Amino acid sequence: MQLEQARHRAEALRQLINKLNYQYYVLDAPSVSDNEYDKLMRELVAIETEFSVLITSDSPTQRVGVTPVSELKEVKHLVPMLSLGNAFNEDEMRAFNKRIKEKLSVSSLVFSGETKFDGLAVNILYENGLLITAATRGDGSTGEDVTHNVRTIPQVPLCLVGENIPQLLEVRGEVVMTHKGFAALNNRQREKDEKIFANPRNAAAGSLRQLDPKVTAERPLSFFAYGIGDYKGNTNLTSHTNILRQLKEWGLPVSTETKSLDGIDACLDYHAEIGARRSELAHDIDGVVFKVNEISQQRELGFVSRAPRWAIAYKFPPLEEITQLLDIEVQVGRTGALTPVARLSPVNVAGVTVTNATLHNIDEIKRKDIKIGDWVYVRRAGDVIPEVVAVIKERRADAGENDIREFIMPTVCPVCESDVVRQEGEAVYRCIGGLSCSAQNIQAIIHFASRKAMNIDGLGDKLIIQLTESGLITTVADLYSLSQEKLAELERMGTKSAENLIAALDKSKDTTLERFIYAMGIREVGEATARTLAMKYKSLDLIEQATTEELETISDIGPVVALNIVSFFKQKHNLEIIQRLLVAGIHWDNKDDEIDLVFSGMSFVLTGSLQVMTRDEAKQKLISMGAKVTGSVSKKTNYVVFGENAGSKYEKAIELGITTLNEESFIKMIEKEK
Ligand code: IVH
Repeated sequence: MQLEQARHRAEALRQLINKLNYQYYVLDAPSVSDNEYDKLMRELVAIETEFSVLITSDSPTQRVGVTPVSELKEVKHLVPMLSLGNAFNEDEMRAFNKRIKEKLSVSSLVFSGETKFDGLAVNILYENGLLITAATRGDGSTGEDVTHNVRTIPQVPLCLVGENIPQLLEVRGEVVMTHKGFAALNNRQREKDEKIFANPRNAAAGSLRQLDPKVTAERPLSFFAYGIGDYKGNTNLTSHTNILRQLKEWGLPVSTETKSLDGIDACLDYHAEIGARRSELAHDIDGVVFKVNEISQQRELGFVSRAPRWAIAYKFPPLEEITQLLDIEVQVGRTGALTPVARLSPVNVAGVTVTNATLHNIDEIKRKDIKIGDWVYVRRAGDVIPEVVAVIKERRADAGENDIREFIMPTVCPVCESDVVRQEGEAVYRCIGGLSCSAQNIQAIIHFASRKAMNIDGLGDKLIIQLTESGLITTVADLYSLSQEKLAELERMGTKSAENLIAALDKSKDTTLERFIYAMGIREVGEATARTLAMKYKSLDLIEQATTEELETISDIGPVVALNIVSFFKQKHNLEIIQRLLVAGIHWDNKDDEIDLVFSGMSFVLTGSLQVMTRDEAKQKLISMGAKVTGSVSKKTNYVVFGENAGSKYEKAIELGITTLNEESFIKMIEKEK
């Protein structure tokens, strides 16, 4: 290709890719498959490799710089970055409304309501549409230069798109990390034995202040614009709603949770509505911000000290609270793993009383230097189990050394007193009691009855405990010899419930081989492996006879899992239980006829929320077509199907060059294959 021809093509590609990014990140409406997108990217990289003079700073290939910076320099904001006044209750909100209505001499006001992101404020300067610098808020006048890192955030456009690009624009917004991104990052950090972040905000802050942009590029950061600073351009921006719409048109992501609100009552309702949905949002918020919508009215109201009179943050209760860790107890799981659990002095965290929090494992306790008696930060976000985030070391001194105790992992199981061992390279300690340990036995029965295993309707945790404690069952095989009369004699169990349970047990007998294998609870044999085994062998007898060498030839089954399977079927106790279950009438269809399934041997990952199908439906569909559906993306993954708010798995797929499908393309693909 000639240089001139290459120049044109590179320019066209850059524009096209920027437009696709805009559709994807800002409009949330991708118009091409990821495959096509990757092809365009590769073509641009190829041209720029051949003709390096054609590389521009706003090229989508230039997001991640090659060399780290030596320090974070200072950047002066053109217009200072202000803070916000707070309100904590309805009265304070009404007082705010009254105050400004009086100042403006108006009877009613229109506000723009939006979520208050719990992240880090940044100021991004665009000159003639090009991203020039990005800086943290700092003291409001001067911040730290984090341009090299902000450039790596995929939602931040390197150049603005659309009409009437301003000569100068300071975009104000927040860098955040989603809950999903945060959890994935901490898991990765844990695996690498590196620093665990206390909350998404800290993780975002740490990521944004890196010297090496390559590190930041691997951190799942997002960005939302919520306003502007300095501005020179032709478009007349007369209201806050105007500004947000215009920012979006220029390619900047703005929150979808913004609403124009007429009067204070509408604001209060909006605050309650967002509050109710707080835990469902993809990222942390700590309140709702209300801004007087008309810019002329904003001007008239002006500022007090460092905060505008025309805006207020109506805060939510914090997700983190301080309390005392009274004790650390140990719970025994199905596989014998001992999990330390913190018993806390009861504390209300965002509306829920928290008395327990997980401590994961002994390494985590050491890493966080948690001791019994410590005052700790406890965090509860969304549906996740409350967590001890950090210790307040200063308060340890107050307590006096005598009241602070180190936690020691017990050397015998607190339930069955069997020995506790830790295998080399493993973080967990385990009770070796197996099913003779009542804790493990109960968990094994709970697993057996669970929805994805034998799916025994109405047989919940409490009832299983009651059944074992009353001596009616000791193993899963006993379930099928329960009599209605005996059941009905149990406390809190009537004739009707007993009848229902017997019916549910009966119904569960008609199952599938893969469910049955999964229900056995063999160590590290999850749904996916159970399915693989069922598909490969099609008979329980053959699985029982398989050797480790044979099992290891199956993709996805490594030496450890192979050994777990073989050891399981070597134990007489297990074989006896299986025998009893089969005699009780558990059965499945033996599909001897080999059906050629279109997706057999292919591996899919589903991520984000789908609109037309649920993730579970999509999964079942794929499985019925022979595909394997796994939870994490690796080089072996063939397709990643992504929905809304897809996070790190999606990014990983892009990184590894794996074909990604949005829901529409996915549905088309399965329709076609059918
Ligand atoms: S507007 C002139 N809008 O809150 C008004 N701020 O306490 C300036 N923040 O440092 C801020 N979400 O980081 C505004 N939707 C939002 C916001 C928001 C989060 C943060 C921002 C700022 C702090 C002010």
